[in-house]
Amino acid sequence: MTKVYVTSVALERLGVEAIALPFFQGERNLTGPAVEIDRRLKGQIGSLLRLGDFKGEPLEIGIIYTFGALPAPRVVLVGLGERAKFTPEAARQAAGTLARRLRAWKLKNLGMAVPQVDELTAVGRAVAEGLVLGYYRFRKYLTKEKEGEDLLKDIALYAAPGDAGAVEEGVRLGQLLARATNYVRDLGNQPGNVMVPEAIAAEAQKLAGKNGISVEVLDQKKIADQRMGGLLAVNQGSERPPRFIVLELNRGRKLDTVVIVGKAITFDSGGISIKPAADMHKMKFDMAGGGAVLGIMQAAAELKLPLHLVGLVPAAENLPSGRAYKPGDILTMHSGRTVEITNTDAEGRLILADALSYAARYQPKAMVDLATLTGAVVVALGTEAVGVLGNDPGLVETMRRAGEASGERAWPLPLWDEYRELLKSDVADLKNAGNRDAGTIQGAIFLKEFVGEAPWVHLDIAGTAWADKDLPYAPKGGTGAGVRLVTQFLIEWLEEQRSAKRTAAGDGKPAVPKGAPARPAAPASKAAKSKPSKSKSAKKRR
Ligand code: BES
Ligand code: MN
Ligand code: ZN
Repeated sequence: MTKVYVTSVALERLGVEAIALPFFQGERNLTGPAVEIDRRLKGQIGSLLRLGDFKGEPLEIGIIYTFGALPAPRVVLVGLGERAKFTPEAARQAAGTLARRLRAWKLKNLGMAVPQVDELTAVGRAVAEGLVLGYYRFRKYLTKEKEGEDLLKDIALYAAPGDAGAVEEGVRLGQLLARATNYVRDLGNQPGNVMVPEAIAAEAQKLAGKNGISVEVLDQKKIADQRMGGLLAVNQGSERPPRFIVLELNRGRKLDTVVIVGKAITFDSGGISIKPAADMHKMKFDMAGGGAVLGIMQAAAELKLPLHLVGLVPAAENLPSGRAYKPGDILTMHSGRTVEITNTDAEGRLILADALSYAARYQPKAMVDLATLTGAVVVALGTEAVGVLGNDPGLVETMRRAGEASGERAWPLPLWDEYRELLKSDVADLKNAGNRDAGTIQGAIFLKEFVGEAPWVHLDIAGTAWADKDLPYAPKGGTGAGVRLVTQFLIEWLEEQRSAKRTAAGDGKPAVPKGAPARPAAPASKAAKSKPSKSKSAKKRR
């Protein structure tokens, strides 16, 4: 496993296989570690920039061989694009592009300079995320190909002594989030014959054991005892039993409760309303929401978030058979409400509905669900953003901001009561699918009927949980969508609660304004090799 750590040892002294230096487009004056390295290379970097052979464009990579001028045999130039347009996302993408080259070159270690900008913590985080996410491959079932082996062990990020503490804070968070995301990618890339509902439950148990999380798995009998009519019906066509997974972090402690719910359809054929054959194989990733819940639980445990965090994962397989549920069937859900089935391919909302009404027992302060719920969200937002809908404008806005801060963008769609019309049934309380209008909103309108009182946001991740082509820091396949976004959301939500409580207590301290930096409790890092700077002075945290 790749480890990223921060060092203040000069890069030109490191005995690594490559040294990477980031550059802004159009900036020819060398600064920071590049100055000394260029001197040792007799001005080669300066020439490359002057001649325009390396321009610093986004995702551009240049390479110089050092022939003994430095202990490292290569210097890699990494383009960041224009400084005026710079965001941490640009650093994340540059680092991801670099990581993919490191794999191709079969490198085991790297020294790298952090881009020279003010927001050191945000950039340290983005670079660590980009490197760890970009290096990821799913290789479990490749029996011959040795080529793509995971060889990269250590990455030393150089920061000047005064900057190291701020960078390190970002690197810890970024590395932790990237690892949790890669874990979720693995789950999503596993095929449907392996990642069946029982396997997700076993995975949840393993994860819980490692992270001090309590876990309970309801089997088919217990699911029936709970009268989860949606989950049972969806799984009815499968030869395998469903599972309902309950994870709890900080169970029994007097902390605010947040519930996260994730759709885990381990394969979605559409059921009797069967899908076309062409892209059906991709529907092994229809458990991405449930996978993300496991990753978020892990990240929250590692960050020691002061939260009673409950993760609920209904897991089922949607298949047609002589026993499968059918269009026209009427179900009685966990909440007691009845649903007419008009399309068995609108199955996600049925299993989520049971989980959402089950969640009421925790009386959560906030609730978030993640689901690959509708093809319509891809029509609306493409693959650049998660669709966000909910019953609480403040929570939706917190999620949107978390999207900006995490680099996993989240964009609101409306959830007006007028849309309720679309799901009216003649024979039951509501139907599970209406016409083709506003498909993503219909899905959320359905869920809303089962949420009850809690402030709630729904994330439709159908557009972002799977990549059809390689991206700067995600190879084709499962992307681990939602882990970075929702963990950031939890951090920001906690910060909001803290400032609200301070204001209510009237202790004279000003409330932290909206958008203020959130500071998670950073876990102790063994990998960090530099002394964290004590001065929490002017360096930005995000
Ligand atoms: N899992 C699908 C949604 C999906 C579609 C995810 C494409 C990723 C890519 C979901 O269960 C589904 O089939 N939704 C239907 C709902 C419709 C029948 C109301 C859809 O989007 O077509
Ligand atoms: Mn479906
Ligand atoms: Zn589905």
